[in-house]
Amino acid sequence: MLKKIEETACYLKAKMPFMPKVGIVLGTGLGELAKEIKIEPEFSYTDIPNFPISTVEGHSGKLIIGYLGEVQVLAMQGRFHYYEGYSMQEVTFPIRIMKALGVETLLLSNAAGGMNPEFEIGELMIINDHIKLIQDNPLRGMNPDALGPRFFDMCTAYDPDLIEVAKAASNSTGVETREGVYMLFTGPSFETKAEVRFARISGADAVGMSTVPEAIAASHMRMHTLGISCLTNMAAGILDQPLNHEEVIETGNRVKAKFTKLVREIVKTWPKSKTE
Ligand code: HPA
Repeated sequence: MLKKIEETACYLKAKMPFMPKVGIVLGTGLGELAKEIKIEPEFSYTDIPNFPISTVEGHSGKLIIGYLGEVQVLAMQGRFHYYEGYSMQEVTFPIRIMKALGVETLLLSNAAGGMNPEFEIGELMIINDHIKLIQDNPLRGMNPDALGPRFFDMCTAYDPDLIEVAKAASNSTGVETREGVYMLFTGPSFETKAEVRFARISGADAVGMSTVPEAIAASHMRMHTLGISCLTNMAAGILDQPLNHEEVIETGNRVKAKFTKLVREIVKTWPKSKTE
């Protein structure tokens, strides 16, 4: 893995005009934030050595280097999901690359099903913790000691300081946010109603199919991580209606402007965004 990371990072470094400190992963339906980025170079995943290729509808698969406002960012438009058949190591490979390129702060966004009955469709939830129901882990196997320790604490995997900055950004922009626990289900089938009841009893506020492996890999490498879920629908059984991917995309579209506004403000006010 280390050799692959080096190879990919070398390829990108040679073509990058600057090394952003902030990485952003754009979730399903939220890829349009990329339109706000003044793009320096961008790379199609298909052109990046060792990168997997995104297959899900709503993701276009590009690594973008540019400016979001005044802040240099490295954004992934489209991510890799476990349900696509990739291993967790593959799913988190781009996060390893970000770190190798100098990214210290990671904003992970996703589409999720809301479970907390106080939440509403279209709201944004700041992730303050997660539950990984499935027992696979991106760190399973030999530990790459050069990247991080074998065993590590996950209590601050979602950086408390960054959560505070996100809440302050929510106040100053007027973009309302919720806060809660995100639970990973592998998908691609949506959860059953019984699974959602179980997840809710377990203490989760939203369910989704991404983010957790990336947050683990980022925590392994001591990156500052923030997770934002766009509650694109209520999870199965919360409302008496069937779930579909179209609703996820539609809500993402409806919410993208406020999502963008919030993210712009977060990267602007987070002290570690600055590049020397
Ligand atoms: N469940 C899992 N993943 C999701 C959902 C959901 O209800 N909505 C968007 N992504």
